[in-house]
Amino acid sequence: GTALAHDHHSGAVTASAEPVKEISVDSLTGPAEGKADVSFTLTAEKKTITLASGRTVEAWTYNGQTPGPELRFKKGQLVEVKLINKDIEEGVTLHWHGLDVPNAEDGVAGATQNAVMPGDTYTYRFVANQVGTFWYHSHQDSQEAVEKGLFGPLVVEPEEGMPPNTKDITVMTHIWDNRGVTIGDNESIQHTKIAPGTPVRLRLINTDDWVRQSYTLLGASFKVAAIDGTELHEPQDLKNVRLDLITGGRYDVTFTMPDTPVTLNVGPGGKLGIVMSPDGQGDLPKHEANLQIFDPTHYGTPAATPFDANSHFDREFTMVLDNQLGFFDGKLALNYTINGKVFPNTPMFMVREGELVKTTIINRGAVEHPMHLHGHHMLVLSRNGEAADGSPWWTDTLDVAPGEVYEVAFAADNPGLWMDHCHNLAHAAAGMTMHLMYE
Ligand code: C2O
Ligand code: CU
Repeated sequence: GTALAHDHHSGAVTASAEPVKEISVDSLTGPAEGKADVSFTLTAEKKTITLASGRTVEAWTYNGQTPGPELRFKKGQLVEVKLINKDIEEGVTLHWHGLDVPNAEDGVAGATQNAVMPGDTYTYRFVANQVGTFWYHSHQDSQEAVEKGLFGPLVVEPEEGMPPNTKDITVMTHIWDNRGVTIGDNESIQHTKIAPGTPVRLRLINTDDWVRQSYTLLGASFKVAAIDGTELHEPQDLKNVRLDLITGGRYDVTFTMPDTPVTLNVGPGGKLGIVMSPDGQGDLPKHEANLQIFDPTHYGTPAATPFDANSHFDREFTMVLDNQLGFFDGKLALNYTINGKVFPNTPMFMVREGELVKTTIINRGAVEHPMHLHGHHMLVLSRNGEAADGSPWWTDTLDVAPGEVYEVAFAADNPGLWMDHCHNLAHAAAGMTMHLMYE
């Protein structure tokens, strides 16, 4: 097969005695042949939509709605998604956030494909190998695309489907804002009728393009069953705990419906959320007192993983996140840097297929950064020098607060050219973007 270019940027590696294994093109693309088990068509189009608050906004939509339609299928299925761009002059793509698809299906304009221009179509094909809660969004000028509404939920069910009596609710939050100032739709209360005894799964997805969102579930003890799509091992019951979710991240929350109302507040309370009750009635509480913030590091119980903190790592990288005043696009602006550089001057991380990679992420800046690695899931090894001793915690979008230091590890098992960037998309656009590259 044709080899992915592997002789650039790495004098040290070329000098090594070991021959570099050629990467075959088949490992970079989804299955080209065969009838898809499930197919979808998403048409990107501009549309004036009315938010739940009554305000109208000029949105960019998939199929005339934002969030776009939920794509739901089962693990192991061959999925085909046809993207049509009707009238978005800036171009669009589809990126499957958190789903580790082959590189050519990853939907990154300028890296894995060209943006799809008005009148054009593009077909993605891949087999979903993970189960869990994900989302999709355009990855052509992601900041503008996500801000204007080009995103939707994506759920991969187990082969056998969800248990039939589960009430499965996707909660995708997005506050319409204007480059940093929230002016948007943060008033919407949904009422859902649920019979007592019903197992409930809430799939929380934060698609805001810059802000952290908080979620408070009151009226039942609950578990965080999954983080970024991966199930936790023996998660414990939680009560009076607030879940803070970084942009791009997902928590699956499960509980058994009691015979009294359960409420999910999004944000400070009282205005945005879901009321679940046996009769579909009730209000959102306005205040929540004495809530602890959920800490995934020490939650759940240990379980075996393919590698851990004691493994031998073939490569170790350091990623220093910072912000500094500098020139960007010819103007003096706040730059968001990785290892002192702004994209495209950020050096790539080079790996080979089969390697085990450890990365230390250090935030020296003034604001938090949700770091998103495409095509791979990172196992969190430690946070601020303390071992992550709860359930093995896999993430694709890691919330790194100012002053924090995380050690994460991943298996380099998905060849290609991958983005690694802050999912505060304004930061990504202002420099905090880099590539992971297989040689
Ligand atoms: Cu959700 Cu590179 O993006
Ligand atoms: Cu950031």
